[in-house]
Amino acid sequence: MIGTDITKASTLLNSGQLVAIPTETVYGLAGNALDPEAISNIYKVKNRPHFNPLILHLPNIESARKYVLQFPKEAEKLAKSFWPGPLSILLPKSKLVPDLITAGSTHVVLRVPNHTLTLDLLNTLDFPLAAPSANISNTVSPTTAEHVEQGLGSEIPYILDGGTCQIGLESTIVAIENGLVVILREGGISQEQITKETDLSVQLASSNELQSPGQLSKHYSTTKPLHLVSSIKTFLEKYPHKKCCALLFENKRVNCKSYLLSNEYNLSEIANNLFSLMRIADQDDSDCIIVEHIKQEGIGRAIADRLNRSASTF
Ligand code: TXA
Ligand code: MG
Repeated sequence: MIGTDITKASTLLNSGQLVAIPTETVYGLAGNALDPEAISNIYKVKNRPHFNPLILHLPNIESARKYVLQFPKEAEKLAKSFWPGPLSILLPKSKLVPDLITAGSTHVVLRVPNHTLTLDLLNTLDFPLAAPSANISNTVSPTTAEHVEQGLGSEIPYILDGGTCQIGLESTIVAIENGLVVILREGGISQEQITKETDLSVQLASSNELQSPGQLSKHYSTTKPLHLVSSIKTFLEKYPHKKCCALLFENKRVNCKSYLLSNEYNLSEIANNLFSLMRIADQDDSDCIIVEHIKQEGIGRAIADRLNRSASTF
């Protein structure tokens, strides 16, 4: 059931049930983070492997403190600059955080989402919410209540409808290592933004460093093949018998059915439309989806990350 009733959502969560919640990034599948049964149910409903930990959602920085052993000054700066917002921070967990949340790790990821409905909801609760994206594992993340309904509607009692997600890509996850900010997952806040808003040094995690365990190469899968290509025109000339549809970063002519992610190569707009147009393209009568490589700057790198994972399925 879809609705906008915070009291109903709060009552369900207080009784150990799961509720889908809107955030500025993607919809989350939320449960009481301190209730092992609710957490187990999240893994079950999503068909999520147990080695893949969950993010703790909180209403503000003060409420976050008791779930970590320390809040280093770098984290403090990040939280002050970006919370509420699409930045999640990995910190050493306190005893209050169940091991099920962190999949046994000594560290937990915290986030304060920037969505009024969900912040209001979090403020009615005396526990944090564990909330992975509200989709079956490995499928495209939901950016509307209807997307959640299509994937998980029969499994959960309530979907809190907060409209279309403003950002459309998951949060950026960072760790603090020796005073450095290390990006574990690119997302709604770019490396450039962190550098601009704080005086912290930021780097991307190299592949042999600690990575988010959920960064499986197979992820964000459409049901039909998604091909990343250098040129749509050349691809269509090379494979004239393939019935493709294209996702475009700007308005241009192509020789196949196409969907516009943005009129003028606006990266935020592309991020915002990506998952919903991937779903639509997946449901039309074409046999495959083609997308060109995107500019590797700002949020473009997070978009490239999602497209690479989606393409690597095939
Ligand atoms: O924007 C978001 O972050 C959304 C909304 C709903 O808040 N949530 C989200 O959750 O994307 P999920 O579960 O789909 O992705 C969380 C990622 C996974 O890759 C997971 O491995 C990583 O965060 N993660 C969570 N806890 C971790 C931990 N303790 N250590 C390392 N990585 C962690
Ligand atoms: Mg996810």
